[in-house]
Amino acid sequence: MEETRRTQVVIIGAGPSGLLLGQLLHRHGIDHVILESRSADYVLGRVRAGVLEQPTIAALREAGVGDRAEQEGLRMNGFDLRWDEESCHIDFSRIGKHATVYGQTRVTRDLMDARVACGGITLYEAGDVQPHDLESSRPYVTYRHEGRQWRMDCDFIAGCDGFHGVSRQSIPKSALQEYALTFPFGWLALLADVPPVSEEVAWINHADGFLMCSLRSRTRSRYYVQVPATEDIRHWDADKFWDLYRSRLPSDLAEKLVTGPALEMSIAPLRSYVCTTMRHGRLFLVGDAAHIVPPTGAKGLNLAVGDAKELADALRRHYLDHDTSDLDGYRDRALARIWKAVRFSWWMTNLTHKMTDNPFARQMQLAEFEYTRSSEAAQIAIAENFCGLETA
Ligand code: APR
Repeated sequence: MEETRRTQVVIIGAGPSGLLLGQLLHRHGIDHVILESRSADYVLGRVRAGVLEQPTIAALREAGVGDRAEQEGLRMNGFDLRWDEESCHIDFSRIGKHATVYGQTRVTRDLMDARVACGGITLYEAGDVQPHDLESSRPYVTYRHEGRQWRMDCDFIAGCDGFHGVSRQSIPKSALQEYALTFPFGWLALLADVPPVSEEVAWINHADGFLMCSLRSRTRSRYYVQVPATEDIRHWDADKFWDLYRSRLPSDLAEKLVTGPALEMSIAPLRSYVCTTMRHGRLFLVGDAAHIVPPTGAKGLNLAVGDAKELADALRRHYLDHDTSDLDGYRDRALARIWKAVRFSWWMTNLTHKMTDNPFARQMQLAEFEYTRSSEAAQIAIAENFCGLETA
């Protein structure tokens, strides 16, 4: 038999979007419950993004979880663009900004700790989560938990359940507007406890394909290399990764490369995707549920945080000031920010990856690199996009 509960906002998904939205709603005194299909350990085990923009840190601080990111995160003052044996340094100080290197797993852990401390309810391993009656003023969500069937009545549903989640799939096809571009390649990633080969994060364009040197700390490195989209992770091990990686590194970095056992290896497809139907009735989409960017611009987590902050502010205005205008404007405000980040991520992908076998395409990339190296304006354009554009 089904049992019924009630809350103001049901949040589906306990990734960074759902957890941050939950903390912000808690601060605003808005009653809510998070439903997550996986276990907390599974969610924490997912290794993903690692660069936080300043507004992202500010949003974490507002949620009461910014301290560790600020104290333990590494300040990122710029990065290197490299091609062949050439390079151009993008210096964020030219625009008076910086970013922070702090892994998404740590953001997730900080948010989970804060949630436990404030007694927020997260129902992990919730099965068959399904939103209903989105277009009515009384939506609800059904789910299974610990062997029992539940119905949660609410005012609003926040779909924070990632690209494969149920929330977006609950919107009728006729109402969905989607834009997508899938790149014919992915990133093979390896995480290892070895000192980073480069102090600055480096985006490297090699004639045979992209590679990236990034870091999580002074002793933990995260490296990526472009592979065909059809590549299977089961055909890779750490030795094979290091051989390919070293073969594409510029010689000064290849000499310094320290290898070691893989803590984690994965292949991520590269795609750009935006569902502009970010609101349907009483359902709001947040984060990866509404958009995916290739990781090249380090925007995914920052976009998710921006959405969660915007929706939390709009819900606060609705509940505390009885003003729905921010909820009505959520989609348009979010999309104005999202499309610019989607453009930058797409552009960085085109600049740094082997896009086709046509040598003309590579000549265009080389010309763009040379132009960037010679133009302060071009470097500033990259820096301001990377650090996060001001919202209107
Ligand atoms: N019911 C409940 N929970 C679900 C369901 C479902 N049907 N489907 C998915 N989920 C959960 C997933 O298990 C996951 O924990 O929703 C959560 C979504 O989390 P993320 O995929 O991390 O998405 P989001 O919180 O928006 O975070 C965006 O992730 O991909 C990166 O670069 C991206 O850093 C960004 C971040």
